Amino acid sequence: MTSAQIRRSAPGKVILLGEHAVVHGRPAIAVPVTQVRATAALETAPPGSGLSIVASDLNRSFSLSTASRDEPLAAAARLALAHLASPEPDATATVRSTLPIASGLGSGAAVSTALIRALAAFLGHAPEPATINVLVFEVEKIHHGTPSGIDNTVIVYEQAVYFMRGRPIERLTVSTPFTLLVGDTGVPSPTKRAVTDVRWAWERDPAHYDALFDQIGDVTDEARRAIEIGDIEELGMLMTENHALLMEMGVSSPQLDDLVDAAQFAGALGAKLSGAGRGGNMIALAEDDLAEEIAQALREAGAQGVIRTRVASTG
Ligand code: PMV
Repeated sequence: MTSAQIRRSAPGKVILLGEHAVVHGRPAIAVPVTQVRATAALETAPPGSGLSIVASDLNRSFSLSTASRDEPLAAAARLALAHLASPEPDATATVRSTLPIASGLGSGAAVSTALIRALAAFLGHAPEPATINVLVFEVEKIHHGTPSGIDNTVIVYEQAVYFMRGRPIERLTVSTPFTLLVGDTGVPSPTKRAVTDVRWAWERDPAHYDALFDQIGDVTDEARRAIEIGDIEELGMLMTENHALLMEMGVSSPQLDDLVDAAQFAGALGAKLSGAGRGGNMIALAEDDLAEEIAQALREAGAQGVIRTRVASTG
């Protein structure tokens, strides 16, 4: 059964701690960012027209029947249709997103999630989050090559997660809410490139990189405890420590370091790059009464945009 118009959405995300090390089997923590969202709206099209996907924000519009195999939105649609054992419907899918692309906010996973949810709903289905998570992870492999799976997990479940490859998903207990500022360098940074570079560096010097991954894993585990007991100051210090380890790993950039320094100078409890690095976004942990000042300091230090988001308590 089909219906005339169906709309579904998915949030963005930031990685709080553990990026890159998570690709190599260590833990990471990520939280949803609900201020930015991807949406997909499905509308019935004339009989015989098949499925068209119009994604103007991403400069991508095509018919499913002619899209290439490595077009991620087409792959998302094909995977969803195969899972539902459904033929291609006559419909237009309009995909919109307020997430900056290639900037560490999970744009790819968010648009895939919104499209798969909307397409399934249009066809009268509501797959479980676990099923959507598996499908979006398959699409992520087209974007990223060897993704850890953290982006799709936090975006599909829309909850703070403690994530380790191959382990069951653990929802994080957040006992005290906290505020994050997300500062955009404006420099696009494809995740695949940074992840590949780290892999090469690890292959050249496994002892050094394994030690870095282990230290990041330890910092992430300590941060988990800090979040669980509501020790936000400790969380801030651990974030800054994580940034230093990412710098040593070679995935920061002068712009990211400038924004991290500016946030700390303005009174942030901690700051670090978030996501693949090299460009994209950084995050700063802010006490509420200083958040606006820190946001202003980030803009003055060159941030192209600053998003303020609150990680809600789970208790
Ligand atoms: O998609 P981004 O830029 O948030 O980066 C994902 C984080 C990495 O750990 C670098 C890669 C991964 O798959 O976990």
